[in-house]
Amino acid sequence: MHVGILTGGGDCPGLNAVIRAVTLALVRECGARVTGIERGFQGLLTRHARPLLPHEVAGILAEGGTVLGTHNRCDPFAAGDDRSGAAMDYVRELGLDALVAIGGDGTMTIAHRFEGLGLPVVGVPKTIDNDLQHTERSFGFDSAVAVVSEALDRLRTTARSHGRVMIAETMGRYAGWIALEGGMAGGADAILLPELPYDVDRVAAYCRAREAGGGSTLICIAEGAHGRGRALTLSQRIADSPDPLRLGGVAHALQHQLQPLLASEVRATVLGHTQRGGSPTAYDRVLATRFGYHAAQLVKARRWGRMVALQGDHCVSVALSEVAGRSRRVPADHALVQAARGIGVELGVA
Ligand code: F6P
Repeated sequence: MHVGILTGGGDCPGLNAVIRAVTLALVRECGARVTGIERGFQGLLTRHARPLLPHEVAGILAEGGTVLGTHNRCDPFAAGDDRSGAAMDYVRELGLDALVAIGGDGTMTIAHRFEGLGLPVVGVPKTIDNDLQHTERSFGFDSAVAVVSEALDRLRTTARSHGRVMIAETMGRYAGWIALEGGMAGGADAILLPELPYDVDRVAAYCRAREAGGGSTLICIAEGAHGRGRALTLSQRIADSPDPLRLGGVAHALQHQLQPLLASEVRATVLGHTQRGGSPTAYDRVLATRFGYHAAQLVKARRWGRMVALQGDHCVSVALSEVAGRSRRVPADHALVQAARGIGVELGVA
């Protein structure tokens, strides 16, 4: 059997651990030949691929990013510029019997469409945002949460020393999972999520009460959070991207909203791509390895059109059609939201 592997969408800690596990398991258990497609689906169009041999993937477990490269703007099925036929020509030329696609929602959607053209596909979920449907965790999330937690520890030092309000902005797109878990791990005083539009007067009153008691305030806000009745804060639009909106800058927007209402100085820090970079945590290395191994098992069993998922700490698989185009957001009554409220963390809403 000849299997292709690609990584699509943004980079993420743990991608190399998946590539390693898929390759080693397929070679050891099926005697398969494995080919890495470079820069995601773009590699199928630009015809960039190379053989992946066990000795090449042996040392990449702890490396961040992806040794195959990735692309988050390439959709071979783009309306008005459908190049999926050319991609399939290259698949046939390479002689691929199957493709393992590692990526987020966009990658799963494209993989599902290739399946419709007759290419047997298995998906592996990747996103630091942890917002894919049907999997309780995606690798990369734990690493991102660790970065947020450490950043909050560092920001607290300045908050306390100067009596300031310090705001840290996390990634997460339209879901608040990174801000919620990272904020709780880092002991944030207030956590603001996209799912719970905040009341700025309420947040200001909370900070003033802390000022009155001589305290500083540490706020963790998700990039997709917004004040009640206010629009999302966008950092840019990328016209040729399947999802053209890039979020970012809400921490500074909140800073400017809060400053006139407070006596203490308000400062904002955008954590940005530091959350996606660097080496995966031990948890993510293990999860990514489990996902890669399970993907290889799906290939071995010829269970096509499935995405690996984690449910109740078991690796299972779900139909790609169930995942494509959907996302998972923080429910208002989630246990961690309740715990946050219960210990007095301000969420910006009653
Ligand atoms: O989906 C992962 C993610 O890191 C989001 O949290 C973030 O909004 C987005 O990707 C950033 O994408 P880019 O690297 O294209 O700016």
